[in-house]
Amino acid sequence: MERRLAAKLAATAVAAAFAGGAAAQDKAVKVGFMLPYTGTFAALGNAIENGFRLHLQEQGGKLGGRAIEFVRVDDESDPSKATDNVNKLIRRDQVDVLVGTVHSGVAMAMAKVAKESGTLLVVPNAGADAVTGPMCAPNIFRTSFTNWQPGYAMGEVMAKRGHKTAVTITWKYAAGDESVKGFKESFAKVGGKVLKDLTLPFPNVEFQPLLTEIAALKPDAVYTFFAGGGAVKFVKDYAAAGLGKTIPLYGAGFLTDGTLEAQGDAANGLLTTLHYADGLTNPKDKAFRLAYAKTYKLQPDVYAVQGYDAAQLLAIGLGAVKGDLGKRDAMYAAMAKARIDSPRGAFTLSPSHNPVQDIYLRKVEGKANQVQSVAVKALADPGRGCRM
Ligand code: BEZ
Repeated sequence: MERRLAAKLAATAVAAAFAGGAAAQDKAVKVGFMLPYTGTFAALGNAIENGFRLHLQEQGGKLGGRAIEFVRVDDESDPSKATDNVNKLIRRDQVDVLVGTVHSGVAMAMAKVAKESGTLLVVPNAGADAVTGPMCAPNIFRTSFTNWQPGYAMGEVMAKRGHKTAVTITWKYAAGDESVKGFKESFAKVGGKVLKDLTLPFPNVEFQPLLTEIAALKPDAVYTFFAGGGAVKFVKDYAAAGLGKTIPLYGAGFLTDGTLEAQGDAANGLLTTLHYADGLTNPKDKAFRLAYAKTYKLQPDVYAVQGYDAAQLLAIGLGAVKGDLGKRDAMYAAMAKARIDSPRGAFTLSPSHNPVQDIYLRKVEGKANQVQSVAVKALADPGRGCRM
């Protein structure tokens, strides 16, 4: 009698465990999207979410067999609100995964909380070198770039084009500083000299006094990092000041990505370096562009690609554990060794979880950032300071 009771209890426990597991897998994975939906980077945040949703739609609304629930927070690209915002997503909304963000300062706050809490974080834009440097962690991944990568590629391009002196101009925050640092590293290797680093606070756009200074310094060329609404105004102001005719302007590709409609003729002919371009010939990009245009009645940009790839990476992780978020180690192992079939061209992740990717040289031709060549093949960020 006792044996039969024990057997029955055990059977009930097993059934309950199965039912519980199945119920957990049936529930949607809660993804907290912390992105800028207002301010100078609003268009970038929207493009990232569009890209993510496009991949989800292509997978029939599930990633790795699990439905996805969206919890959205507008981070306003404001680092002072970032820790509160991310804590709300984790504690109040109980998200399983964080996806964000665009602004490097906000991303560093997210990475700190993700590291401390062990919540999976996928960064679909912000290039803060530290996120896959000293702050790296098994649960932190990036599907975009480090600020160092496009800057480093452009230093080589400008040197090869015969420029010996340069002035840099950017916003004074992590992304601007690190982009300029990457540029200077390769420009200096071949004897290039930076005459002056000019900055203004993020997200200010009063460029006039700095443009006057550039005219007085007379460098061979200018290197810049601006993005979003600020990039639109900078390119227009540079052209209006007449500088475009005498001092060529170069930049990390954010200067002209997603901005060309608004920049008009002022952007024509600009050369930039980035991990995406118009005119790529890989089949994945062709299919992606068609699907994106059909779904959103918009042309995609680099931000849409990065959001799409964030969904692809999450799908690989969830797929490897059949949607079981309890198997974190196996999920992260699958993500770390993933090969992402991206519209930018296939890429893998470095040991610190940042894309190893081709950086393209692009030229603005009308409304396109037309690919010219691969500026640096399979460029890996050095991941300085990462211990995992
Ligand atoms: C950043 O803050 O890391 C960033 C913002 C916009 C475009 C690229 C990088």
